Amino acid sequence: MKIGIGSDHAGYDLKEFLKEELKKDGYEVKDYGPEAKKSVDYPDFAEKLARGMQKKEILFGILICGTGIGMSIAANRYGWIRAARACTIQDAILAREHNNANVLALGGRLTANELALQMAKAFLSTPFLKGRHTKRVNRLSRML
Ligand code: RB5
Repeated sequence: MKIGIGSDHAGYDLKEFLKEELKKDGYEVKDYGPEAKKSVDYPDFAEKLARGMQKKEILFGILICGTGIGMSIAANRYGWIRAARACTIQDAILAREHNNANVLALGGRLTANELALQMAKAFLSTPFLKGRHTKRVNRLSRML
């Protein structure tokens, strides 16, 4: 499965950790940057990943800033993105099951590496439940 990852400076270390761990797990991980831990603006990297998803380079994305809040706000500006900021494994699972989220937003300053990895793995392996959730998610697409 092809996935994308991006961050700002506050999410850089967690980005590098998750990228390597998810590759070990068999995921093809495209890194949308930044390439070094320097001060950058999170909307720029949310946009890079969102455009990659628009071009079908990736199926899912992970965006990391200090809290995950800025990245989720930025990514959700794009109509094809359903970004969920998650703090727990249950958040990550429910974001897939109920919301068919395609981007997981994480807080690099709030989330320990191992918990973030478990959240990412849960997010990437959990299917959308469809059923009663389908019409609600479809409704989101008509809110542009
Ligand atoms: C950067 O200092 C911080 O503001 C940013 O990473 C993020 O948490 C914003 O939502």
